[in-house]
Amino acid sequence: MCIDGVCGKHTKEKQVFFAKFMEHHIKVVSQIGRTSPRSPYMYIDPFGGPGHIACDNGYDGPVSSVRVAQLMNRFDLDYKIITSDINPEYRNDLQELLSHYTNNCNVLTDASSCIPIHSNNYGMVYLDPPMSLDSFKLTKKIMMEIARTSDKLDLLVYISNRLITLFRTHPYIRFSDTLQDFMDGIKKEFWIIKRSTSGNQYTFLCGTNYEQWAVWGKEHFYSTRSTKGKLILEHLNNTLKERLFIPEDMDQQEMF
Ligand SMILES: C[S@@+](CC[C@H](N)C(=O)[O-])C[C@H]1O[C@@H](n2cnc3c(N)ncnc32)[C@H](O)[C@@H]1O
Repeated sequence: MCIDGVCGKHTKEKQVFFAKFMEHHIKVVSQIGRTSPRSPYMYIDPFGGPGHIACDNGYDGPVSSVRVAQLMNRFDLDYKIITSDINPEYRNDLQELLSHYTNNCNVLTDASSCIPIHSNNYGMVYLDPPMSLDSFKLTKKIMMEIARTSDKLDLLVYISNRLITLFRTHPYIRFSDTLQDFMDGIKKEFWIIKRSTSGNQYTFLCGTNYEQWAVWGKEHFYSTRSTKGKLILEHLNNTLKERLFIPEDMDQQEMF
């Protein structure tokens, strides 16, 4: 079933990159030997989704948290999953599917209840919100709070920069965040950005306090301190008019 708000033109690309990235992260954490039954790998996924999706664009597979459970079982690591969805049907499906892999998981009713009071565990927080203004604000709040209290949890967010720009430049919407603002408010030392795809400028951003593991040129994933990362960010932070220093009220006729 193709589900509105969950399936899109880029779902397959998103899910494939996410799985690769998580495999890489889990390997790194397992190699440094920082998980144990008392301190399991913590995976937090506030916008969980419906368990399994089959989209018209060719993706037919599990949602993010179920994919992580599959990977964790393959790596035979101790782990805990905290996820949520506001849709009760999606929660039931998530719970049912996750129960095939682990009983160390909580499926909660709202994204903001996924924020741990404090966590000393290594792991990942993945934010894949619906593309709406309220969800963007909630996403930022969750990222800020988790980064403040749990410095060993890395953050990964999937977001449409085109929508951020639309909200920012809309005359009646109060929203000033650029991607740069998103990062500035969040207590992470390093940010890694993926080259964005398509007109909607979908991209992945990862916030971490340990930079080396995340940079991944082969997947077009660069530190925002590097030349390539700076260029990607500069491109996304500014509209064409802003990049060319053209005033908003100047029309095309005047321009060329
Ligand atoms: C883009 S989908 C997530 C897809 C999922 N990560 C995957 O791998 O397919 C976003 C989900 O967030 C849920 N959602 C929206 N607002 C929420 C909120 N405040 N708290 C929890 N879930 C929410 C929606 O019901 C939807 O299932």
